[in-house]
Amino acid sequence: MNTKAEGPVPLLAARDLVKTYGGNPALRGASADLYAGEILAVTGPSGSGKSTLLHCLAGIVRPDRGSVGYRGERLHQLSEERLSELRRTDFGVVFQFGQLIPELTAVDNVALPLLLAGTARPAARERAGEWLERFGVRGQQDQRPGELSGGQEQRVALARALVTGPKVVFADEPTGALDCLAGEQVMTALVHTARECGTAVVLVTHDDRTAAYADREIRMSDGAVLPAEVTA
Ligand SMILES: Nc1ncnc2c1ncn2[C@@H]1O[C@H](COP(=O)(O)OP(=O)(O)OP(=O)(O)O)[C@@H](O)[C@H]1O
Ligand SMILES: [Mg+2]
Repeated sequence: MNTKAEGPVPLLAARDLVKTYGGNPALRGASADLYAGEILAVTGPSGSGKSTLLHCLAGIVRPDRGSVGYRGERLHQLSEERLSELRRTDFGVVFQFGQLIPELTAVDNVALPLLLAGTARPAARERAGEWLERFGVRGQQDQRPGELSGGQEQRVALARALVTGPKVVFADEPTGALDCLAGEQVMTALVHTARECGTAVVLVTHDDRTAAYADREIRMSDGAVLPAEVTA
């Protein structure tokens, strides 16, 4: 399988990441590459460091040692301001649940990243509506997160992660709280849209069936990424 969708230069490159929480090592020298447009599954047992790796790649968590390169920049050497800007413009995130703002309706949740990027409110809401349509939840646009099903909530979260046209979407167990059918619908929507838009996806999952949607899989064990030949 050709895993390097756009040539040999990775979009994101993590090198020898070490992260310890109060003496408890979460990452012990983890390295990984993400190529433009590819869907990369990150698998491995609970506690192996998958979420911590994702958070380091997304610039949410600062590693104690090691580096994350993103398009010629070292993520953790950037100013807080530049890093926040990158997270707003280039990265989208979807977690297992609880990422939407409970007080806002679905359409306003999706419009929020556009408003933060300076889009005027009517245009932002219109675009948000189009993205809800794309994920099959336009009919729920005026409902608040507490009034949505789990699957609908995750589709709204996907719309919010993708609405700004990011280069990378980070998804941590995005279907982990859903039943089979709803999970499959959310995964299909994510993979289809990412491929259509050329968005790379880092997809953390326990589930082999979810990992099967990816172009490539890396496995973690005990805070490190296993060599490819162990995974193959
Ligand atoms: N904020 C934190 N504070 C303290 N310890 C943490 C924190 N985040 C992670 N850890 C610890 O780091 C290790 C790796 O955690 P991580 O969440 O990355 O694992 P994971 O592979 O995502 O697990 P799961 O599949 O259960 O989500 C675990 O031992 C965890 O307890
Ligand atoms: Mg996790």
